[in-house]
Amino acid sequence: MTQDQSKLLAAKRATDLISDGMRVGLGTGTTSTFFIEELAKRVRSGLRLKAIATSTESERLATEQGIELTSFADSPVLDLTVDGADEIGPGLSLIKGGHGALLREKIIASAAKAFVVIADESKIVSTLGKFPLPVEVIQLAEPLVYRKLLDLGLNPMLRLVANGAVPWQTDEGNFILDCHCGSIQDPEKTAAEIRSIIGVVEHGLFLRMASMALIAGQDGVREVHPS
Ligand code: A5P
Repeated sequence: MTQDQSKLLAAKRATDLISDGMRVGLGTGTTSTFFIEELAKRVRSGLRLKAIATSTESERLATEQGIELTSFADSPVLDLTVDGADEIGPGLSLIKGGHGALLREKIIASAAKAFVVIADESKIVSTLGKFPLPVEVIQLAEPLVYRKLLDLGLNPMLRLVANGAVPWQTDEGNFILDCHCGSIQDPEKTAAEIRSIIGVVEHGLFLRMASMALIAGQDGVREVHPS
């Protein structure tokens, strides 16, 4: 089974969790794209739901596919958010934000009664940190935050547009510093240290947030719970 086939399998399984009338958070990335497409098939077959997307990219896809969007003004509580992850560590600690949507992803995950992660099994790690940890920063503060992350030993690098020399910008117009940590021994401590830097908008450590992960591999899909 290819990695994409695994992602599709996990995405399809997640659609089984959606029932009529739900308010759903839609993730960002390749696995979430499969989920949005599979969910849209069910919508076209009569399932009624409203969704909030974690990026303009997912918002566009959902609209194209016929999924009705809502807002937090109309739907302050979501029933379920389904999203991918870059790394899944012990206790369903996560690194997210590889596609730069970490801020909206964290908001939308936090607004849901349940947050389900979908992934292929390559995302499972024993220690977080091999995947660069994204930190979203206000443009003005980027040089200051960069130095502070460097002092913390987190090895930050400004994310640039592909094949370009200009900084990549998030949907909110912020910059991303990708921290090449290697390994994050104490994610709670690292999260608190990053959070305390003025100018940081959000970081990609999602701790104690996921309710369940659906992990797909050669043997099908397995459910993983936080403990
Ligand atoms: C988006 O910013 C990320 O948090 C994604 O959920 C994560 O990068 C996983 O992406 P893939 O599903 O493309 O691996």
